[in-house]
Amino acid sequence: MPVSATEITRRAPEPSSEEPVIRFVELWKSFGPKKIYEGLNLDVKKGETLTIIGGSGSGKSVLLKCLIGLMYPDQGQVLLHEENVAQMNEKQLREVRKRVSMVFQGAALFDSLSVGENIAYPLNEHLKLSHDELTERVARVLKLVNLPGVEHMRPSDLSGGMRKRVGLARAIAIEPEIILYDEPSTGLDPISTRVIDELILSMKEKLGCTQIVVTHDMDSAFRVSDRMAMLAHRKIVAQGTVAEFKASTHPDVRAFLDARAS
Ligand SMILES: Nc1ncnc2c1ncn2[C@@H]1O[C@H](COP(=O)(O)OP(=O)(O)OP(=O)(O)O)[C@@H](O)[C@H]1O
Ligand SMILES: [Mg+2]
Repeated sequence: MPVSATEITRRAPEPSSEEPVIRFVELWKSFGPKKIYEGLNLDVKKGETLTIIGGSGSGKSVLLKCLIGLMYPDQGQVLLHEENVAQMNEKQLREVRKRVSMVFQGAALFDSLSVGENIAYPLNEHLKLSHDELTERVARVLKLVNLPGVEHMRPSDLSGGMRKRVGLARAIAIEPEIILYDEPSTGLDPISTRVIDELILSMKEKLGCTQIVVTHDMDSAFRVSDRMAMLAHRKIVAQGTVAEFKASTHPDVRAFLDARAS
């Protein structure tokens, strides 16, 4: 079911501009002997949806975690509006996490809390809402992800797809400026995947959010992206529009896209 355009009205649509909001600059990172990045560079422009593709274990999730200060690069800068997240203290990171929300791979819900309490958690942490406002906000975002009325259920009683959508509802509830989606539709049926894609498009068009999506689903990537970037060999090896990616002759991009067709 498509997301109703009237349900998200907070900000006027903003066209994407050339101004980078996020910049990964000369990033190096290893875990022990395993090298993850060797001089990775990537810019994300204001208001755009950029999709990162790449093989399992190539470092896509780690990149998103570096942006909210859950992980640090060994060298290089992670710039958010020109401020280096890689050097921030916990207090500064709290401010970052008010503006940058992440939909974690595998939802990452607290099983001891109800669905409603899970969604309310970051709201309580970052915003001062009245009880009624909070209840209304939780109900509204659950409706947006096509799960109205599940506030009182436990995450453990939900299907994998429903858990993913609750994770998404939690991320958008604080109405962030930037949203990071780590495999938001992996494991979902095609109709639920469409719902998530529509939501990603709405967050950009209606709220002007800047977004980074990590996905293995190329149909989703083609639907939601303004630009795409490929992570391979410890760097961003290719980036461009959807049309440019589809027509790319870059061997890594071709291998990735052609594997899907076969
Ligand atoms: N905390 C950690 N400690 C040690 N190694 C880690 C840690 N987190 C990630 N890694 C390793 O870093 C590499 C990149 O991990 P990451 O989770 O970013 O991959 P990914 O591209 O998201 O893969 P997938 O598509 O399977 O989710 C992997 O080899 C992973 O095992
Ligand atoms: Mg990952």
